[in-house]
Amino acid sequence: MKRPAVLVARAVFPEALAQLAEHFEVEPNPDDTEWGFDDLSARLAGKTGLLCTAGEPITAALFDAHPQLRAVCLMTVGYNNVDVASATAHGVLVTNAPGVLTETTADLGFALMMAAARRMSEAERFLRSGQWTKWRYDMMVGSDVHGATLGILGMGRIGQAIARRGALGFGMKVIYHNRSRLAPADEAPLGARYVDKATLLRESDHLVLVLPYSPASRHAIGAAELALMKPTATLTNVARGGIVDDAALTVALRERRIAAAGLDVFENEPQVHPALLELPNVVLLPHIGSATEATRRRMVGCAVDNLIAALTGGVPPTPVNPEVLARA
Ligand code: DGY
Repeated sequence: MKRPAVLVARAVFPEALAQLAEHFEVEPNPDDTEWGFDDLSARLAGKTGLLCTAGEPITAALFDAHPQLRAVCLMTVGYNNVDVASATAHGVLVTNAPGVLTETTADLGFALMMAAARRMSEAERFLRSGQWTKWRYDMMVGSDVHGATLGILGMGRIGQAIARRGALGFGMKVIYHNRSRLAPADEAPLGARYVDKATLLRESDHLVLVLPYSPASRHAIGAAELALMKPTATLTNVARGGIVDDAALTVALRERRIAAAGLDVFENEPQVHPALLELPNVVLLPHIGSATEATRRRMVGCAVDNLIAALTGGVPPTPVNPEVLARA
């Protein structure tokens, strides 16, 4: 019997390709070229499965062009690049990789918040450039993290994991805003207080963004929101570029309307707003929230497991649109 053909849109661990090859004809992308729509679509001809990241344009036009496609399996938790409604209408299963990167991303988010609060990148640049000549009472003074008010916008798995670090490890007061309030049993151990967005902005000493990107969350933090924050506050984004209006943030940082920011994601990444590169009070990272060896292996493994299950009659572990399965 002819084996199904699958496309792996980006470079992955060789072991993952080997595992897929036990079941499928696999077309990999060893050069890790970032295919645009035309290249991706050309390579998808005859493929019933696609393994990809949150970077490829998985649009309605792609589903229209490939009626043979049955499953799109992402190695990322975010899937804002996928037109899920169109996938569902075409009977295509979409899966993502939730859960496996929660703690790793929370580690990075907390570290980035601390780096912004304690001016760690700025202080290192100061040292490396030979400017450190003596100890001084006000040299590189930042703001405390322990005991401060930690604000979380988007209290899903990663938000809760960051809140746990803050509340239990650093004695922080946790406030949060989310589409829906947590159950009291989940709030209680963190001492977390649900507040409206304006209160979150006004009261946070350190605000961390962990909400998913959607048209509704685009520029959830812009000039008006930044204006509500304390001048001593920090803003950390480990969610998605586009949630913050980067141009407005550069103004707020330059004019010290907020103290500092930590950014792992950007509006037009991998391009970074040029003004951000010039500012001392922002820590910039190249979207490495989930970048540990173990976690990246789990993420790819999750996509592989989903793809194998989806195309061999199994039960895909983490479907985004399970209604497609119910229909099959
Ligand atoms: C995701 O999984 O969506 C992340 O942004 C990749 O680290």
